[in-house]
Amino acid sequence: MTPLDYEFLRRFLKERSGLDLSSDKQYLVESRLIPLARKAGLPGIGELVQKLKSGVEPLTSEVVEAMTTNETFFFRDKIPFDHLKEAILPALVQARASRRALRIWCAASSTGQEPYSIAMCVKEFAALAGWRVEIVATDLSQEVLEKSKAGIYSQFEVQRGLPIQMLVKYFKQIGKLWQLNADIRSMVQHRQLNLLQDFSHLGTFDVIFCRNVLIYFDQNTKVAIFERMSKMLESDGVLALGAAESVVGISDAFKPYPERRGLYRPNAARAQGAGAAVMPFRAVAAATR
Ligand SMILES: C[S@@+](CC[C@H](N)C(=O)[O-])C[C@H]1O[C@@H](n2cnc3c(N)ncnc32)[C@H](O)[C@@H]1O
Repeated sequence: MTPLDYEFLRRFLKERSGLDLSSDKQYLVESRLIPLARKAGLPGIGELVQKLKSGVEPLTSEVVEAMTTNETFFFRDKIPFDHLKEAILPALVQARASRRALRIWCAASSTGQEPYSIAMCVKEFAALAGWRVEIVATDLSQEVLEKSKAGIYSQFEVQRGLPIQMLVKYFKQIGKLWQLNADIRSMVQHRQLNLLQDFSHLGTFDVIFCRNVLIYFDQNTKVAIFERMSKMLESDGVLALGAAESVVGISDAFKPYPERRGLYRPNAARAQGAGAAVMPFRAVAAATR
């Protein structure tokens, strides 16, 4: 790959998906795109770049998707799901008692392990029985969304993070594979969505999980996404980020929740109508236990 081809691909990927590649990632681009070029009947990256310059589909989307990292697993990092069960859901059960409805957005949901982990937590949370709980799973990649919709996982995938009791309770074995039961699958709606584009049409949410995707973006992109997300979260809602991600030092659209690592709330001092309610997590969690 020539330096000019690499520069083109860096710019192309940043514009299309936000992926911010440093100047030394040629090996990564080659390892992901050479197989794709071959599949498209092209001799190499140079010819692939020429095709991309003329904007042909589906090659453009295929290149963007090939460069995404889709690594995920059930109950990844555990702590966010402990927060969900012990703090977020108990507080929301009280705060939304009259509405009896919740909306949860899993942005960058990959192959579904994250939104389905959320769905299993919701299902296990007895106080939510009879509530309308919408879980919206979005991702840039159509391919991962298709896998997520099917809810079918290999033995290896269900062995990563999923407690055995949950496997027995919520999955059905199909040969060597495992499929999530229809009642859990039906709790999750899937939509293709690029976080670089407008997402206000999704409406407002009580909880947003946006984990392990912002790490791939540059600072300005993160700032813009935090800003737009803060407008879609209820004033007492919660944003959960990945273990290597934070708003601190990047944006003042959110503030960290004290004593709940990885959780953030809209910054009431900045929000319209300052003084928005903030859920006292510890007090509410204790009261509902
Ligand atoms: C590493 S996975 C994280 C999955 C899950 N959130 C987790 O933490 O386990 C990152 C996901 O972000 C998606 N992604 C990358 N760029 C995106 C963008 N601009 N808009 C939406 N999704 C994107 C990828 O397709 C991939 O599925």
